[in-house]
Amino acid sequence: MSDDTGIRVAAPSDAPAVGRLLYRLKRQYGSTTITDEADFVRGAMSSVLEAIASTSNVVLVAEFSEEVVAFVDFSIRIAPRAGGRIGALEEIYVEGGWRRRGLGSALWSAGRDALRAKGVLEIEVITSMAHPGQRQFFATATKLEWYAAVHRERL
Ligand SMILES: CC(C)(COP(=O)(O)OP(=O)(O)OC[C@H]1O[C@@H](n2cnc3c(N)ncnc32)[C@H](O)[C@@H]1OP(=O)(O)O)[C@@H](O)C(=O)NCCC(=O)NCCS
Repeated sequence: MSDDTGIRVAAPSDAPAVGRLLYRLKRQYGSTTITDEADFVRGAMSSVLEAIASTSNVVLVAEFSEEVVAFVDFSIRIAPRAGGRIGALEEIYVEGGWRRRGLGSALWSAGRDALRAKGVLEIEVITSMAHPGQRQFFATATKLEWYAAVHRERL
């Protein structure tokens, strides 16, 4: 998949760029205490590479002029209650200067197509109550149904 949207399936060589975008996502939401981008990218590299290589993930990047400016990552699991495979959005991130140009929507839509092609029946997204922008994006751009609350314990 690669067309004039700049969106394509991520390759292992994209892992450092995806790691950098992940760092910015986590810094934006204060969900990492690491303040050095290179340290963060080193630490994240094995899970980013694993996601890119896994048949249970769909990782897409948007690249313009040889710069990766956005990515999306979905995981796929089997849920008998849903009658088969469910996709979950793990991360979506568009670089600050590239936002509000339809890139997030284009990544979402390309990811949806890729999941459908893998037999996924349903997609779930967790949005944070603390971040209204992302909730508005999912309410407006993707028109998702608000289905349930998420309860969690960190192990
Ligand atoms: C959420 C995010 C991916 C959206 O990417 P984007 O490329 O700006 O999205 P789009 O341009 O496709 O936006 C489509 C519509 O969604 C809505 N929207 C997007 N961002 C919004 C915001 N910050 N506030 C309100 N509405 C927003 C708007 O209706 C927008 O249409 P418009 O620009 O014509 O008004 C991007 O803002 C981002 O990377 N945020 C930080 C990371 C994040 O929160 N990720 C989600 C959880 S992992």
